[in-house]
This record gives sequence, structure tokens and C-alpha cells, in this order.
Amino acid sequence: MDLDQADESEDDNQWACIRKRVREIKASVESLPPSKKTHDNHLSVPEITLKKEEMQSAASVTQDYMDQVDCDSQEDLFGDYDSFGDDSWLLAQFEDAERKHSVCTSSPKNKERQATSFSLTFQNSDTLHLQNDENKIHKLTEDVESIKDSCRTRSNIATEQFCSKTLSVLHAANIDELDELPCSQLAHMEEFNSPLVKHESKELETEANLPLNCIVDDLSSIPSVLNKRIENLNVQNQSRTTNPGTCKQLSLKDQMKNAMAENAKSPSPQISRSKLLKEIILSEEINVAVKTIEATSDIDMGPFYGLPSKVTDLIFQFKGIKELYEWQHTCLTLKSVQERKNLIYSLPTSGGKTLVAEILIMQELLCRKRDALFILPYVAIVQEKVRDLSAFGIECNFLVEEYAGSKGRFPPIKRRKKNSLLIATIEKAHSLVNSLIETERINSLGLVVVDELHMLGEGSRGAVLEMALSKILYTCKTTQIIGMSATLSNVTDLQQFLKAEHYTSNFRPIQLKEYVKIRDSIYKVDNKSEDSFTFARLLNYKYSSEMEKIDPDHLIALVTEVIPKHSCLLFCPTKKNCENVSKMLCKYLSKSFLSVKEKEKCALIEELKNIGNGMICPVLRGTVPYGLAYHHSGLTNDERKVIEQAYSAGILCLLTCTSTLAAGVNLPARRVILRSPYVARDFLKRNQYKQMVGRAGRAGIDTEGESILITQEQDKKLVADLISRPMECCYSNLIQGSEKGIKDLLLSLIGLKVAQTLDKIVEFMEGTLLGVQWQHHFKEKSLFEVIEQALQPLMEKSLIKGRRSRSSEDEMCCQLEVTKLGLATYKGSIDLAYCDTLNMDLKKGLEGLVLDNYFHLIYLVTPYDMVSQCTPDWMIYFTQFHQLDLIEQNVFATVGVPESFLTKKASGQAVKKAVNGFVIRRFYLSLVLYLLFKEMNMWAVAQKFNLPRGFMQNLLSSAAAFSSSVLHFCEELEEFWAYRALFTDLTQKLSYCVKPELIPLMEVSGVLEARARQLYNAGYKSLSYLANASPETLVKSIEHMSRRQANQIVSSAKMLLNEKAEALLEEVEELMRLPTDLP
Ligand SMILES: Nc1ncnc2c1ncn2[C@@H]1O[C@H](COP(=O)(O)OP(=O)(O)OP(=O)(O)O)[C@@H](O)[C@H]1O
Ligand SMILES: [Mg+2]
Repeated sequence: MDLDQADESEDDNQWACIRKRVREIKASVESLPPSKKTHDNHLSVPEITLKKEEMQSAASVTQDYMDQVDCDSQEDLFGDYDSFGDDSWLLAQFEDAERKHSVCTSSPKNKERQATSFSLTFQNSDTLHLQNDENKIHKLTEDVESIKDSCRTRSNIATEQFCSKTLSVLHAANIDELDELPCSQLAHMEEFNSPLVKHESKELETEANLPLNCIVDDLSSIPSVLNKRIENLNVQNQSRTTNPGTCKQLSLKDQMKNAMAENAKSPSPQISRSKLLKEIILSEEINVAVKTIEATSDIDMGPFYGLPSKVTDLIFQFKGIKELYEWQHTCLTLKSVQERKNLIYSLPTSGGKTLVAEILIMQELLCRKRDALFILPYVAIVQEKVRDLSAFGIECNFLVEEYAGSKGRFPPIKRRKKNSLLIATIEKAHSLVNSLIETERINSLGLVVVDELHMLGEGSRGAVLEMALSKILYTCKTTQIIGMSATLSNVTDLQQFLKAEHYTSNFRPIQLKEYVKIRDSIYKVDNKSEDSFTFARLLNYKYSSEMEKIDPDHLIALVTEVIPKHSCLLFCPTKKNCENVSKMLCKYLSKSFLSVKEKEKCALIEELKNIGNGMICPVLRGTVPYGLAYHHSGLTNDERKVIEQAYSAGILCLLTCTSTLAAGVNLPARRVILRSPYVARDFLKRNQYKQMVGRAGRAGIDTEGESILITQEQDKKLVADLISRPMECCYSNLIQGSEKGIKDLLLSLIGLKVAQTLDKIVEFMEGTLLGVQWQHHFKEKSLFEVIEQALQPLMEKSLIKGRRSRSSEDEMCCQLEVTKLGLATYKGSIDLAYCDTLNMDLKKGLEGLVLDNYFHLIYLVTPYDMVSQCTPDWMIYFTQFHQLDLIEQNVFATVGVPESFLTKKASGQAVKKAVNGFVIRRFYLSLVLYLLFKEMNMWAVAQKFNLPRGFMQNLLSSAAAFSSSVLHFCEELEEFWAYRALFTDLTQKLSYCVKPELIPLMEVSGVLEARARQLYNAGYKSLSYLANASPETLVKSIEHMSRRQANQIVSSAKMLLNEKAEALLEEVEELMRLPTDLP
């Protein structure tokens, strides 16, 4: 054996070992215990093998195979096969045979023959010259596609007919599956003795066959061979739809067997053996072509809007929805949706918009096999959606990836076997789009869904959303964009921007009754009346004069009309007000409130203590026993989550909250009270008002909903206007806030090479919302001037270079490019206002970085934009300085915070020495972060600095995000090479800021610190422990864990494990792939 051979065999061995290992990993993933049903969704080696076989068979059947045709046994017919295309002798024989046979094919009497004739003619014109002739293959594909198109149209009609039937046939699952429902929904169903639990699967099964039968019936005019192939495909479809347990595709071999068996059964046409063979070969060719086409175009996977029927079970099981609303069906079957046009749909709050989006997403993932991006406004909402849809992903074989907070990889991992649903916040979605454009993978994004589309008009976040959508629109014409909102006004602008159709309806499943309270009178909102409201009733209350002073708005009277039997949300203008109102209410509520769900409330207090490492907020300690709590950004994420869950479960009956609870949340509220028509000092906007009152009367949770806006006599006119005027228009934010948006956008456009010349930039900008609105609303200067003006500071800061003025036509085409600093700035998403400062700070850091601890590094990643939110308490600053060791104190001097300065400030003396005030304030935040990092106890540090826990948590997560930005910044600048490893480590540590053993558990969406600690202590030490956990055991062994939460944790962990394992497999396969251009 020569050396090369030895190498080769060694390679082979290695390859074999790796394949074996891959299979083992896959097997371990596959062997995860199913949560409820058997899953067929895990990685499957046979699946890969099947694809390879299919590929091998792609062009034709082998000579070996042809030789074996003489065998009687069907088993033997399907041994090895190779390329048939090379055998010209055989083809000549076919041609000859066909010519001879042309006479019998012309007979109109024999139906079978006629069909055969058609197929032969088809063969004659297209197939016989297939060998090595790609053009011909292409032509065949086109022909098949046209036939398929007609089939698909019919199938669509059939599906549509069927879907309208399924409107009421989303059949009920087992009663115990209802465990997956939110408690509030369950309670609701119990209360109204819902008929959902009737078992109708038999009925469904019959119905499920309907569209497929329709397709087959409709195909009578298609040539028999093709007909058989399509029937075969349909048989597969049927087995997939009606029997989810056996939904794996038939192997190619089996399909061929079936085809042969079918052909053998049908009356034998009087044709030669070679003709028969040719027909089989043709049918196989067609089959392969059909499959190829199907892999890239719409496939009808099943009876539920093209999706498998198990999706209906899952919708019922996890959402409790058994039938679609009429509008949901209409929207899903809109012509524009079927043609994959962009779409905006607007319906009132609680109209059920989410379900339509989720069905469209699943169609994209499962039928069109492309990835989907779901953009949601807040981290908590993204996490909730990831938890919700993980179970769908596990059952339906797609991946769900979280892009929120510190989670998400850029660019996303390339998956070749499964499709991914990327659920992202607005900022993360923008970074995702950038990374996909940069790696030329933007085409992989088949669908982008934007919830709360009106956010386009909301400050800097709106600008970021506009940038992301504009980039998608400009760089990828095949990505469908769908936006939804309850509060849209200038839809035409948005339609023009997104090149979208519009669908709207006034449907709200539970009518919302809106009221306004002035003094002791309650008025009903009535847009027909002159004042916009009409008198409804007097508030029934008996207040002493002292009470009248304490509660002039009669909040106690208003809330006690609904609580504790029903739930109530009370929106307050400020955070402090939320706490005060909740305390005040408890003071005057009847003591009988204490005995309602007493045990559950005690458990809740214990849970809150557990979260706070034994400490609990004194306000909550006092209000929870009455069933009340406050809810605002001053709470930690853990606390907020526990409070929301307790409220959903009916343990708490009232939340006093700020407007942060107004968007997209699905909490039960029989009554929503707006304590005042102000948010902080600003009068409410119509959109805000609509979002807040829209929390009342959520479908499936409540049966009624009403809102009461409390106002004073002097604001009566403003309130009348508020409740009657149209929604505010949604305007582009690209040029708001010193044109930050447009500058960021231009820098990234040039950096990504999307538009590098002035004319290209103008072309791009014309497609943005700003460009669309410029024509209508901004007349004073041209869009070109705005662009020039925004490019100027980029030039001045040396972020871009090149020529930019329009002195001649040529200069319009002059290339602009980013400098290294510009590249680093846009890659790190660094605010342009701070990129110079960051650069300087990092350079200064290199001169004498203190690395004995993390303090100095933490200073470098303390977010600049949070400095204005905090004023140092000099005494605390001084005291904390003296509690640090000498090396730590050293960092103060290194960054420019002298001890003498702190001493003077703390003792109230005047400071003469010039210091940098910004650095000193920023370093105060670094001190907070450093102690958090060291002690890992939010409560203890909050007390030390007298800061709200929520603020500190926000500071920590902003620092983690900024640390990751600084890392990307450093990656682009050679001089900062030393920082890269340091910031990689720091980012990870700041992202979680918990004991290292909890990090793997906290990677699971929505598992926060307290829960991770509980799980760890109960023996669930890593991701795979959670993925393999039994939900029942979790419920038993973990305190305060509901069945629904346990299911969600297990599903999310399984999904994450799957996703990680898949990523590793992809990496292995990528590494082992033979280069196509190997010399
Ligand atoms: N067809 C349906 N049948 C019964 N309930 C439904 C149906 N569709 C949606 N729902 C329920 O209606 C509630 C509100 O739905 P969803 O959250 O989608 O509203 P929305 O239109 O997004 O409202 P918002 O604008 O406030 O976010 C949810 O509890 C959802 O499960
Ligand atoms: Mg919604």
C-alpha cells in the first residue's frame, strides 16, 4: 500500500468514526423522551441517506437496473441503480419501439392506451434526449411544473373549500391535553363549560381526506403515469396528514415499488416491454423533477391551510383555540397572501392577529422551506413567544431561535436540514438583517413578520425598525413582509413603504365598553354624541370626608365593583404612583380580601422571598395578602414574571401598573382603569390610550371588558378629543434626534456595500418610509440635501471616505467607503455620538489596563447613554471606595477619579481641581456594576446604592449588550487585538451575572436566576437534564411550578438542545465536505 493510499484509508477511517459519532449524537438527540406524543422531528440519519439516494437517482435508472428488469420478483427490481442517461443504445431502442407503437397510441377508444399514448408523446418530445442534456431536463421540469401548477391551483381550491369546513372542525384533543392551557383560560373554560372538549377526531379524519381526494379526482385529465405518481405522492400526504405517527416520507425505493405495483395492477396496455420500461423511467424522472420543484416552491403539506392537521391539534392543545374567526380565515385565504405579496393587517386589540401570523410563519417554514423572522417589541414578549412556539417546533420539525437580550448568533447558523424561526427584538432583528446581508444570505429569509408595526413611528426604535425593513426590501425581492397592528392611521404611507396590500376589520371578539369618569359620574364613550360621551350612571359609594381626601378619584369604589371576583388593571402615570396607589387601596380594603386564596398568596410571598435571596419588597409584602401588587420597570425580571403569572392564575386580582404593561400582553382584565389621562407629565396619545384600554376583555380569558378613564373637569375637552380623534400618524424617525437614524443608516449602507454611490444611496432612501413621506410632508429641502447633510459628519469623524458632492454627474457615481473606524463603529452598532470617546478610552486603557480584577474592564463597557440617568450620591461613592482593596482603589486613579475629589464631595467642600464630570458619573455606574458582578446579589447592592432593583438590572443588561458591541468594535481594529479575548469573557459573565453553574440552565428561554437556582438544587444540572426531564416530576419537585410552565421549560430546553446539536452536526459536515474544486 503506498502512502497516498494509506492516507486515504486513514481518512476513510476518520470519516467513518466521525460519521459514527454524528450518528451517536443524533441518536442521543432522537432518544430524548417525548413530552406527550412520539416525535418524528429529530435529526435523522436515514433522512440524510434518503436524500443521498434521491440525489443519486436524480437523472435516471441504471444499466444494472435495466438488466434486472427481467426478474420476476419486484423485490429484485430495485437493487442498485446507476446512470441510465449514458446508454444511447438503449435510448435508440426506445425510440424505435415508440415509432412502431405510434399506431396503437392513436386509438381513441382505449382509455388506458390513450393515457399511455399521452405519456409516450410526452416522453418522445422531452425525455428521450435527456441524457447529458441539461436544457432538456430543464424543459421537462418546466413542463412538469406547468402541470403541477394546474394541480396546485386545483389543490388550493380544494384546500380552500376544505379550510372553510375546518373553520369549525379544528378538532378537540384529549381533556388532559388542556393542561397546556394558561390557568386563566382553563378557569374560563371550566366556568362556561366549554364544548371544546368533545372528541371529534374521527370527523376530522374523514374531512382530512377530502382535499386530497379532490385533488385526485381533479386529475383525471392528467396522463396516467403522471397521475399515478401524483396519486402516490398523495398517498404519502394522506398518511402524513391522517396519521401523524407515520409521517416520515416513503423512501424513494418504496415509492418506486409502489409505482411499479400500481402499474402492475392496472390493466396492461398492449405495449412493448421496452416501452413499459421507458414509461417507468419517465415516471421516475418526473417524480424526481416534481420533488425538486416541491423542494423550492409551495407544497401543500396538509389540510390546514397547507399545513399538517397536527397543527390544529397543537393550536388547540397550547392555545385552546378550536376554530378560526371568520376574519382570520378570510385573511389567510386572501389572494394577495397566496401570491406572497407583502401585507399589512390591522384589527382592534385582542382581535386575534397573532394566530394568523403564526400560521403564515409555519407555512413558510414547513411548506416553502425558508426561514422566517418574527419581530416583537420587547425582550419579555420575545421570550414568551419562544416558549410558546418551541413546542410547535418540536412537533413540526423546525427550529426556534431566540434573539433577545444577550441571546442570538450573528450571522445565524446556516441550517441545511431544518428551517429556523428567528424570534427577535427590533434591535436584534436589525443586526440579524445586517449579518445576513454581509454574508450574502439574505435570500434565506422567506418571511418577515412585524408585530406592533406602529412602532415604526416610535423614536429611535422606530428608526431601527425602518432601517431593517428598508434593507430587506432593497436587497431581497423574494422576502415577504407582513406587518400587523391595532393602532394604525396613515396606512397608505406604510403600504407604499412596504409595497404591501392592506387588510382591515373592526372585529373584536369581546366588545369593549369604554367609560370616562368625571367626579362621581360615569359617562359612556359614544362617538356619535356631541361631547363624545353620554351620561351612564352615578358611582355608588359612601365616603367619609377623610376618605374623600385620601381617595379623591374614588379608586376604592371603582375597583371593589370588580375585585376580588374579577381582575382589574389600574394604569398609573408614574412608578412611584403605582406603589402608593397599591398601598392606599390595601389600607382601605375590607379584611375579607385577606382570606381569598390565602394559601396561594402565602406561597407567592415565599416565592418572591426566594427570588430576593430572602428579601422581599416591603410594598409587595403588604399588598400581596390583599391580592394586589404593583408592576413597573423598577421590579426585577424575576419579580415581574412571578407577579404576572400570579395575576394570570387569579391569585392576584389587581395590578397597579405603568404603560409598560400596555403592549401585546395577554393578561386577564375585566376592568381597566386609567388613573389619569397622563403618562408622567405628557397627555395621553390616542395610540397609548387604545393600547391600554385594549387590555380589557381578552378573548378566551374574559367574557366582558370595560375601561374607565378618570379625568378632572378641566381636562374634559382634551379627553373628549382623545377618545374621538383618529390614531396618531406613524412618521419616520430617521431624521429625529439630531438625525441619528439616518447617519447610522448611511454608515451601515456604505459599510455593507448595499449602496456606495450617491445615486444608489438616493435610490435606497427613496424606498424608506422617510423617502415615501418626504414627498408628502417635508417640503423645505430635498431628500438629496438631507442625505448630504447626514454624510457630512460621517466624513468629519473619518468614518467614511470618498467624494460626495454633486458637482458633476460622475461624482454621483463616486465610490464611498467606510474607514476602519467606520467599519468598527457600524459592526459594533456603536452610537455615533460616542464612537470617538470609546476609541479614546480603549486607547488610553491599553496604556495601563488594571487586570488584577474586572473593575477597569467593566468601566470600559459601562454604557455611555445611561450616565445621564444617574446622579452619584457622594457619600455612598466615598464609602464604597474605602471598602475596596488597594488594587481596586487603584482603578479610580487610573480612570481619573481622584480620592481627594470624592473626600471633598462627600464632606460637602468645594472642589477646585478640574475633573471630568462625565467620567466621574460614569465611573459611579461602573462601581455599581462591579459590586453586582462581585457579589451577585441584586438586592444587597440595590440597598448599598439606594437604587431601584429594576434600574440595576437594566444597567446590567445594557452593560452586557454594550460589552458585546465593544467586542465587535475591537474585532475590526488591529490595535485592540488584546481586548478581544477579554471582552469575550466579560460579555458572557455580564450577560448572566450569576454563579457559573446556573448559566447553562439560564440559556433556556425564560429561565431566570431564581428558577435556575431551584432547578439546579433539585438536581437539574445542565441543559440535557432539563431536555430529558419529565414535566410531571418537575411539577412535583419544584415549588410553585405549574404544569404549563414545566411543559414550556422542557420544550424550550429540548429545542435548544436540538438546535445546538444540529449546529454541531452542520459544522462536522461542513468540515468533512469534499471541496468541489479539489485539484
Ligand atoms: N380563533 C380564535 N378563537 C378563540 N380565541 C382566539 C382566536 N384567535 C385568537 N384568540 C385568542 O384571543 C386572544 C387575543 O389574541 P391576540 O393576542 O392574537 O390579539 P391581538 O390581535 O394580537 O391583540 P393586541 O393588538 O392587543 O396584541 C388570545 O388569548 C388568543 O388566544
Ligand atoms: Mg398582538
